[in-house]
Amino acid sequence: MGIVITGHVDHGKSTIIGRLLADTGSLPDGKLEQVRALCARTARPFEYAFLLDALKDEQAQGITIDAARIFFNSTRRQYVILDAPGHIEFLKNMITGASHAEAALLVIDALEGIQENSRRHGYMLSLLGVRQVAVIINKMDLVGYDQKVFREIADTFGAFLKQLELAPSAFIPVSGRDGDNIATRATTSMPWYNGPSVLEALDNFTTDRTATDRPFRMPVQGVYKFTEDGDDRRIVAGTALTGIISRGDDVVFFPSGKRSRVRSIEAFSAPPAGSASAGIATGFTLDEQIYVARGEIAARADEPKPHVTTRLRVSLFWLGKEPLGKRNEYTLKLGTARVPVRVEAIQRVMNASTLAAVDFGERVNRNDVAECVLKLGRAIAFDVAAEIPETGRFVLVEDYEIRGGGIIREALPDRQSWVRDRVLLRNYKWEPSEISSEQRAERYGQVPRLVLITGERDTDRKTLARELEARLFSDGRVVYFIGMGNLLYGMDADIGRAEEDRREHMRRLAEIANLMLDSGAILIVTAAELTSEDLETIKAGVDADRVTTVWLGDTLGTELPSDLRVSALLPPAEAADQIKSLLRDHGVIFRPW
Ligand code: GTP
Ligand code: MG
Repeated sequence: MGIVITGHVDHGKSTIIGRLLADTGSLPDGKLEQVRALCARTARPFEYAFLLDALKDEQAQGITIDAARIFFNSTRRQYVILDAPGHIEFLKNMITGASHAEAALLVIDALEGIQENSRRHGYMLSLLGVRQVAVIINKMDLVGYDQKVFREIADTFGAFLKQLELAPSAFIPVSGRDGDNIATRATTSMPWYNGPSVLEALDNFTTDRTATDRPFRMPVQGVYKFTEDGDDRRIVAGTALTGIISRGDDVVFFPSGKRSRVRSIEAFSAPPAGSASAGIATGFTLDEQIYVARGEIAARADEPKPHVTTRLRVSLFWLGKEPLGKRNEYTLKLGTARVPVRVEAIQRVMNASTLAAVDFGERVNRNDVAECVLKLGRAIAFDVAAEIPETGRFVLVEDYEIRGGGIIREALPDRQSWVRDRVLLRNYKWEPSEISSEQRAERYGQVPRLVLITGERDTDRKTLARELEARLFSDGRVVYFIGMGNLLYGMDADIGRAEEDRREHMRRLAEIANLMLDSGAILIVTAAELTSEDLETIKAGVDADRVTTVWLGDTLGTELPSDLRVSALLPPAEAADQIKSLLRDHGVIFRPW
């Protein structure tokens, strides 16, 4: 069972764990004596907290400097305790620690009382969906084991947690230093207390059995090919977060909606099993060779589906030095998915410690919590945290650093909902080819790709597209160029040219592209001034990671995110060369003849 221990700086987290290790005989032989001897030699008073540091050889600094993992066994079960240091800068560690915890211990110093961080950590636990909490009121020796002090802290803090809908399983008065109520009951110092010791409180936590009762969810970590000759099966690998999957189950991958059947469950370095359940790193092979990408979530066809959209209503906390604002772009990580994200609206900002509303509007300051609407650069699959917490929480990253995180309250509709619903159904009903995409890639020396060439109205996109098509063709590639004009009088003959028809043109273009990509081809499409909405519609219809966007021109007409910008002054041959080398860099074309 994963436990996170949190609380303000110096309130005694490490001491309590050190004591727990010592009093349950969990320390390596001679460790206690060794640390005592070291303290004597350096004329420092012995601290149980040093035990943890000694286990990591960091006692010189006197504080725990990273989220340390400590393993120990009670008579009941095995524990992994994450010691999350109390300094505010270390909150990030706590976030990553707590996101894997099934329960939490929250430590409060009886003498110092409830601190901002005590409340803030409580808030984070609630946001991270850690529902089981025991509150430890430490250093009772410093307040003369006074029951009144204990009661007052317990009542005040209990009321605070109640606002967060957290109901602690116990409030435990302890002295970490003396081991009172840690592994054994302190009947002499605190005879008035008859609740559980810390060890008993741990053993009373329930393991998250409900994880297996919930619908199956497995974020796809990667798709790996069998290496033996002639074996074209691929393993879809990941860690099952909830539920259970068995051989023969129909699986659907989201956001794409692609479906297949589980042929076998592959365990790592173990014989294949019949099923895999929550908490297990696993992989499975499929009956049909569908294209599945990292970041998708595997679900079972007979269970409730995850949500798919680009707009989320969330509760989040923010730790970044720079406030969270609408102008910046961040990366949202959920499961194995990573997508660009912006804040669409900030609805409510609160101080995490007092829960008071903060003057809100345009930004969320460091250490505040907020309710926001987030807009993703492309759709992902997820669940609402109230239904499946494991796939309902996310972190926000900027410059490779975690800046915040939170839980998803609601899936909101977006402009692509109408096209996505059709695409989900199309993919669900799709009959995959008997010839795998690998076989085609092998034959053609390329992987399928949609190359969208757009740009300023007056630029000559068509000449560039033709040049690129001719070059790729003469290299032996399977390539085809479609100008939007070629669709207007055929495929799109039944729809008008008005602005409101544009999205339907885009949807149909995406459908054609999807077929051509499935055939293994590289498809080049030109369109004047594609908007980001057009691009979103197209990406909803084809695998988003199979699209390359090229902007031709010297000024930026629309705010279209492009993979390559090509100057309109460049001769077409050179421009085509630039696109070719991008395709080579992205692994689209390989094996040059
Ligand atoms: P950080 O890791 O820095 O956040 O601190 P922490 O919460 O791990 O606190 P730590 O266990 O290092 O304890 C901080 C100080 O409080 C140490 O000097 C301990 O000796 C002291 N302390 C911890 N528990 C008790 C206790 O029950 N009684 C008394 N008197 N002192 C305690
Ligand atoms: Mg510590």
